[in-house]
Amino acid sequence: MERVLSGIKPTGQLTLGNYIGALKNFPKFQDQGETFLFIADLHALTLPIDPEVLRSNSRDLAAFYLAAGLDPKKCTIFRQSAVSAHAELNAILQNFLYMGELSRMTQFKEKSQKLNENAIGLGLFAYPVLMASDILLYDANVVPVGDDQTQHVEITRDLVNRFNNRFGPVLTMPKAVVTKVGARIMSLSEPTKKMSKSDPKGDIYLKDDLKVIRKKIMSAVTDSEARVAYDPENKPGVSNLLQIYAALKDISIPEAEKLFEGSNYGTFKGAVADVVCDVLGNLQQKYQAFIASGEVERVLEEGAKKAREVANNTLHRVQHAVGLL
Ligand code: TYM
Repeated sequence: MERVLSGIKPTGQLTLGNYIGALKNFPKFQDQGETFLFIADLHALTLPIDPEVLRSNSRDLAAFYLAAGLDPKKCTIFRQSAVSAHAELNAILQNFLYMGELSRMTQFKEKSQKLNENAIGLGLFAYPVLMASDILLYDANVVPVGDDQTQHVEITRDLVNRFNNRFGPVLTMPKAVVTKVGARIMSLSEPTKKMSKSDPKGDIYLKDDLKVIRKKIMSAVTDSEARVAYDPENKPGVSNLLQIYAALKDISIPEAEKLFEGSNYGTFKGAVADVVCDVLGNLQQKYQAFIASGEVERVLEEGAKKAREVANNTLHRVQHAVGLL
């Protein structure tokens, strides 16, 4: 049976990019295989974050997992920090990824560039080791992620080869699975840049007021050609909106293009705003209901219990392989 694992970092507010590239796709896996979804709170510490913000973001993220349709009876939802095996496996695996390859990771280069040399924590540099530990603890074969995380899954695969060549078939080889439409949603204000949790103008946040969402979409940067067509290089803004529309309607990009043949940008943007507001309005209602239900903490505690059993098994196997047991 397939083992599926993914996680989201509770830094900043969740974006439409997180929803389309990751969250929206998670529920279908819970019917196909054993699925583990977690809150990457230890990863959230790799850049400075206020403790209260981290706490409330973690709770919010769990409520969004539930609102998106994850069912705790069918999958395991937990906080990374509640399963100590993540940190223990990290301590072992850090010896099998090397400084050179870690310093070439795109995410590290982008995030560290914005910081003073003396403010780059070791955790930011070693980020992929912890992420590999997350994946490998659950013997995951399938790791659903957006485009920007595939490099981290690739380095995990390198680690598995390196480790298994030395110690035998101990670790399971994972594979990144990326959604066909929407693996990289771009900023609405700068459509050549990825939508990320830290750009209030170009991002749509899952908790944004629907009126604000509509306004952001109606003022999204496009071009002067007045032709709705998918051409990410020459028409990045329009292509991004087409991608958002197609992903949320579960249709292909050519199908979306066809629907808007001959439409002007005002009509096109209005239709994109309608679908985004429809989907996010629904999600927000469910999110509010889960927050009000007080169930979130219980789901996380029960999830952590189940996750610990699986993770500790793998940890023992690795400890034995390297000679700690
Ligand atoms: P994070 O929190 O940055 O993002 C969570 C998920 O959202 C996807 N994503 C996007 N997809 C499409 N368009 C975008 N603009 C966009 N922005 C983000 C990400 O690709 C990701 O799938 N390192 C991970 C968390 C993590 C993890 C793991 C994931 C820790 N351990 C183990 C999988 C397996 C992260 O920071 O994602």
